[in-house]
Amino acid sequence: KDVIQSDSYLKKHKGVIFLSRLTTPECIDSLENLEIRDSDLFLVTFPKSGTVWSQQIVSLILNEGHRKGTEDIDNMVRAPWIEYNIYNIDFNTRPDPRLFTSHLPHYLMPKDLRNMRGKIIYVYRNPKDVLVSFYHFQKILVLSQHPESWEHCMDLFMSGEVLGGSWFDHIRDWYTNKKDYNILFMAYEEMKKDLRSAIMKICSFLDKKLDDEEVDIIVEKSTFENMKDDPLANYTFLSEDICDGSKGSFLRKGTIGDWKNLMTVAQSEMFDRVLQERMKDLPIKFIWDI
Ligand code: A3P
Repeated sequence: KDVIQSDSYLKKHKGVIFLSRLTTPECIDSLENLEIRDSDLFLVTFPKSGTVWSQQIVSLILNEGHRKGTEDIDNMVRAPWIEYNIYNIDFNTRPDPRLFTSHLPHYLMPKDLRNMRGKIIYVYRNPKDVLVSFYHFQKILVLSQHPESWEHCMDLFMSGEVLGGSWFDHIRDWYTNKKDYNILFMAYEEMKKDLRSAIMKICSFLDKKLDDEEVDIIVEKSTFENMKDDPLANYTFLSEDICDGSKGSFLRKGTIGDWKNLMTVAQSEMFDRVLQERMKDLPIKFIWDI
């Protein structure tokens, strides 16, 4: 079945669940042939794992902490989603280095990337916090599905019937294919616990040399509080038919361990069992609390 819920705008294509008002299966399929340059950089995430945060951090790194000509440009233009090109940006005329964002699994990404062209930063987050973030996000994302309850939302997430598809498959797919890519795996929690070190790690992956002052500026502009007040970074620029700002915000809480406020002990244990079963041979360690 390719329609997820009769009242939602989500559709399924090749294992991916996407916002059908903002893209099409044809557009997704065409991305395979997007020509990649060596200097291209892709931010890849499962939704609600810190995508917008990484857009802010990495676009600032590329501009040495300043916005150099991007002062009036929002994050979605600085790091456009390849599969949701809602501003109709011509990717071919973008200046180097091009920064892109995607929620796609590896098998739908531009195939040039598999030949070690370009670089990818894959940001992941402990899945219980991803789920809780999702639950709140679905209230504001007009174009998404609207689960009746927290329990229903959790069922949808566990069975992979949410925007992005299966979280379990997404991370497994990227991790088990990492040898084909120039890819850095970064944990949301690593960024949260020590933003400065995370920025230095990204700089080293990108061979980007910044001085201390430039790093200070990036840290400052990427804190939760500052991003929440930054109209070019907080996604309030999205139109009301996409996001209903009166029901909440993209930058909601930005913490580690919020799942403890919503999940019962039984739900958490059930989640642990599924995670253990589905991730048992993956060496990724998740950080569940501060
Ligand atoms: P919460 O809902 O838990 O607050 P995405 O951008 O992939 O949709 O992820 C959204 C999550 O990232 C939200 O989590 C949001 O608050 C969090 N986030 C965004 N900017 C952040 C920042 N500067 N620091 C910490 N968390 C941030």
